[in-house]
Amino acid sequence: MSSTYLIEGLKCLEYRGYDSWGLAFKIGNNIEIKKEVGKISDIQIKKLGFPESHLAIGHSRWATHGKVNKTNAHPHSSENNEIVVAHNGIFENYLEVKKVLQKKGHKFLSETDSEVIAHLIEEHNKSHSFEESIKLAAGEIEGRYAIVVMKNDENKIIAARKGSPLIIGVGKNQDEYFIASDIPAFLKHTNKVIYLDDNQIVTIENGKIDFYDTVRREKIAKRIIEIDLDAETAEKGEFPHFMIKEIMEQKDTLARAINQDPAIIEKVAGEIKNAFGTYLIGCGTAGKVGMVGEYLFAKIAKKHINFSFGSEFANYKDFLNKKTLLIAISQSGETADTLEAIEIAKAKGVKVAAIVNVESSTMARTADIVIPIKAGLEKAVASTKATTSQLAILTLLAYTCDGGVKTGKQLLADTASQINDMINPRYEEHIMKIAKKISNVESMYIIGRGLNYPIALEAAIKLQEVSYIHAEGFAGGELKHGPLALISQNTPVIALVANDNTKKDILNNAAEIKARGGYIIGIAPENEDVFDFWIKVPDTGDTSPIVNIIPVQILAYQLAVLRQNDPDKPRNLAKSVTVK
Ligand code: M6R
Repeated sequence: MSSTYLIEGLKCLEYRGYDSWGLAFKIGNNIEIKKEVGKISDIQIKKLGFPESHLAIGHSRWATHGKVNKTNAHPHSSENNEIVVAHNGIFENYLEVKKVLQKKGHKFLSETDSEVIAHLIEEHNKSHSFEESIKLAAGEIEGRYAIVVMKNDENKIIAARKGSPLIIGVGKNQDEYFIASDIPAFLKHTNKVIYLDDNQIVTIENGKIDFYDTVRREKIAKRIIEIDLDAETAEKGEFPHFMIKEIMEQKDTLARAINQDPAIIEKVAGEIKNAFGTYLIGCGTAGKVGMVGEYLFAKIAKKHINFSFGSEFANYKDFLNKKTLLIAISQSGETADTLEAIEIAKAKGVKVAAIVNVESSTMARTADIVIPIKAGLEKAVASTKATTSQLAILTLLAYTCDGGVKTGKQLLADTASQINDMINPRYEEHIMKIAKKISNVESMYIIGRGLNYPIALEAAIKLQEVSYIHAEGFAGGELKHGPLALISQNTPVIALVANDNTKKDILNNAAEIKARGGYIIGIAPENEDVFDFWIKVPDTGDTSPIVNIIPVQILAYQLAVLRQNDPDKPRNLAKSVTVK
């Protein structure tokens, strides 16, 4: 195996974390480690002259414990430098274990929880085999983890998982294997995969692969699955960034989301009707989609559904029982907060449906029913096409619950074709005018009402994460209760307007802002007197959240580019948040 494989693989995974990176190569009976701060995508393999090796580990980090620096980058070594570990997740009880190891003489170089794992394995290795030491260490780690481990004098790589994803790629060459936290890392080389499940350990040695279940305490057999993923979808093509490529793909992705097996939609709608309490959960953008869902079900299906962020769901655990339904929304299907909420629900016998993009994800494999959104690989950290596809599925579900599956489908199909007409170069140029005008502001605000209130919150996330401008979303009616004090001369405020019962009120709210000096950017089907700048969207009724968020996505992207930020890899963030 060459360093090229490793580095190319890491480049494909960088969207999960990109503040620093590191590589470890087994060369004879030594392990050579190279670490750097920054993005691995910036390095040129040939220039650095990495060693060749058939056993190697790589990692790109999203800092949790300890600053972004070379020492804290993975892989981490044990005290005697014989054992090397790369770790995803959080070792929750690492401080207690660290203290015990320190008493035994271990000295730590980094501030990370991950380094403690290498030392812990080494400590066990004093009296146990390499494999046994990893099993013992795994048993002591509280929290979610995926670890990959090498030892200087062992011709093998061992990996273990609990809660964080690990997937094995079975190479085309006999005896070639890849282990990664996501398939794109090795998709160029193989589409044959084996999913490691929680509490399982894999050992790869001289082309032989073995699996062990730490709960059953026995060797197990695993199935090879051929996955249907196109390596091409992972490329930017003619676009300068994945974010704009994915925004433009919304011309097709909506149609793909709705033109899928109607039986699944009917089944989930049936579960909602029969459930005694339905909860929608998600985090970040997926959470805002869930909030829109609450409004959609109230408006269209006349049904009250509860929304909770994944990280807050535990507060409702006393209300969960076998008649409850949980609908989890996630692009990656690996978000730790959402997965933990699912675990809480499952422990209470709750049925779980997942609206998810990555069909091979932990969430998709844990849920009782999966509605795949079919948006294709979404690589930019800022979610765009997955968002609108998730919104489309929830709209369809709400219509189906009310017996209007055909009406819902027709509405969404019309929306998809109107979006196709809407996003063209002239539209982008028009939005660029306002992007240039506001690119240096310190703060901006977004208001919406009804279905478009959660979209105002989502718009704020989009603008924050890629433009780094302070952006906040509010319910139009809430302004006068406090936020209006933030408005001064020329403060930009985006008003999200839908041609529904909220229109008059949101325009009044915009007028209140304008009267205090605010600069109103209206996203609306029609131009209104109160707007200083108008971005036209089609009048699509209940799908206004879908059409209204797209111009904000474009604006956020353009602001990122104008402010010389990387829209695909915004600072401090990661695409898939696999820690709590
Ligand atoms: O993969 P998920 O949809 O579960 O991710 C949830 C959030 O981390 C995600 O939506 C995040 O807020 C996005 N970066 C927003 O664009």
